[in-house]
Amino acid sequence: MNDLDKLHKQACDKIKHAKTLQSLQELKAEILGKAGSFGQMLREVGKLPRDVRKTRGAELNQVKNAIESAFELANQALQNELVQQELARSRYDVTLPGRRTVWGAMHPLRLIELEAIHCLTALGFQVADGPQLEHDWYNFEALNIPENHPARDMHDTFFVAPRIVLRTHTSNVQIRTMVQQKPPVRIIAPGMVYRRDEVDPTHSPVFHQIEGLWVDDKVTFADMKGVLHRFISYLFKKEVRVRFRPSYFPFTEPSCEMDFGCVLCEGTLTTCRVCRGRGWLEIAGAGMVDPAVLESVGYDPEAVQGFAFGAGIERIAMLRFLIDDIRLFYDNDVRFLQQFRGQGF
Ligand code: PHE
Repeated sequence: MNDLDKLHKQACDKIKHAKTLQSLQELKAEILGKAGSFGQMLREVGKLPRDVRKTRGAELNQVKNAIESAFELANQALQNELVQQELARSRYDVTLPGRRTVWGAMHPLRLIELEAIHCLTALGFQVADGPQLEHDWYNFEALNIPENHPARDMHDTFFVAPRIVLRTHTSNVQIRTMVQQKPPVRIIAPGMVYRRDEVDPTHSPVFHQIEGLWVDDKVTFADMKGVLHRFISYLFKKEVRVRFRPSYFPFTEPSCEMDFGCVLCEGTLTTCRVCRGRGWLEIAGAGMVDPAVLESVGYDPEAVQGFAFGAGIERIAMLRFLIDDIRLFYDNDVRFLQQFRGQGF
């Protein structure tokens, strides 16, 4: 065995025993580096006579290549080993019990709002929106409620500035839409409204309404009855009985309140806690759009007519889920909210 074979063999033995990437690195510097035995041999080549120098040089190179590939192989083997170790360490224990996912629930007001939208868009209405901070003109005046009209007493209003109010109903969106758009108009407007009410089981200064408006050349009171009957039947998941009582709103003429048969007793119980024996529940205000309103938005009352309605989302939710205190909607007690799990969309 010549010195080069010996060097190769020794190197391979040492490489075999290197246990870490670092020791392999050090070993490489030791064997092939300038100060190592290989370096020394390389230096000696220069002193050799010309004719042997060439062959010796070629042999040295060959050994160097062989040793380098031995290092490369060892390096890869060690790296593979590390990967295997890492994989073994992080293997999942599929027998561990899983972590439970806590399911949220849709808020009942949102649920009713979405169902209302779902039903009415299916009947051809489009969702419209308007500001909650509103100019007096859109909230009152254009709706045929002039400054000193007694109807303004119906709305105890939050005035933010002299002619700026927190909207007292979603009817402002009727005006906003008609001002912007030529007839026909067929919209619904769900949203928050504000009134200066004291908080009690049936009142809250902030609540939600959904407004409807359909104006075209021959929209009639009968269309209104049909739409509202379908709407309430959809929300209460059964064919309800409805009745229309004459009422008054400055922006509709004629105006009415729509009632429907008590969800709990259907009028059979004189002691019913929901309808208090009346058999009927008030659910929406409605009517044919007053010509004065059509005029204020630049429509021709001789050419178009239509109906409007407004209903309270809280009231619908209270009747649908038999909730007797409006404050429950805003307390956000999870024990209350969890009861609506799995309901709705
Ligand atoms: N805006 C009325 C209210 O808040 C409801 C309503 C809307 C009545 C549309 C008639 C037509 O009480």
